[in-house]
Amino acid sequence: MSVHKKVYKKITTHSLLEMKQNKEKISMLTAYDYTLAKIVDSGGVDVILVGDSASNVMAGHETTLPITLDQMIYHTASVVRAVDRALIVADMPFGTYQGNSKEALNSAIKIMKESGAHSVKLEGGKEIIESIERILTAGIPVMGHLGLTPQSIYKFGTYTVRAKEEEEAKKLIEDALLLEETGCFALVLEKIPSELASKVAKKLTIPVIGIGAGSEVDGQVLVLHDMIGMTHEFNPRFLRRYLNLYQDIQSAVGQYVSDVKSKDFPNEKEQY
Ligand code: KIV
Repeated sequence: MSVHKKVYKKITTHSLLEMKQNKEKISMLTAYDYTLAKIVDSGGVDVILVGDSASNVMAGHETTLPITLDQMIYHTASVVRAVDRALIVADMPFGTYQGNSKEALNSAIKIMKESGAHSVKLEGGKEIIESIERILTAGIPVMGHLGLTPQSIYKFGTYTVRAKEEEEAKKLIEDALLLEETGCFALVLEKIPSELASKVAKKLTIPVIGIGAGSEVDGQVLVLHDMIGMTHEFNPRFLRRYLNLYQDIQSAVGQYVSDVKSKDFPNEKEQY
């Protein structure tokens, strides 16, 4: 059986819906800069998320809370310049959409205008629904994000699996249905039991993309730097590492240092 059902020259929100209808799984990865975004796009990924995980991965913060709107725009614009095919989703950073719907709309418009992103992603359900409605009125596609929502880390206290209890699972299903009804084009479910994620994916007509949400959803997303092993201290069960770049880069740097010290680099052919 062929894995690719249709060739898409350019991915749109409609392509993702079609993929769900055709039972073709959606692939999504993060990117925050031009060089890696170019490689990721040429590798054929369907969606590139400029995640606020840039706060951790690029800036070394402990949480995603400190990253600003202008910093997200900087990362997103760099990715936009690199990408030909993938749909680009930009995370709306903490504090730019929770206050009121007017602020949310202004933040989303600023992202779209100044970065060239194709859509935005917001964390949360019922509590931010007015913001989502208002952003949608401007014709900006919105991706939802439920389950483990890292911008609320201080409310939950830990990064453990969410919605294991019946009450939280019930709220997650209600929120997912509400996000679809409001007009979100897709939904990310992070770190929840696979059975619950499967149930949500079956109930919704929009694509459900999981990270630590099992295989019975419509697509998968990983943080690029984790999946290529540039980070090495973060080892959740859901993470599959395809490379070990931390070690490879570290040993290349070690070799370079040794070549410089020993005067092996540059050799005769490496100079003018
Ligand atoms: O910021 C991010 O990278 C994300 C993914 C983990 C889904 O939101």
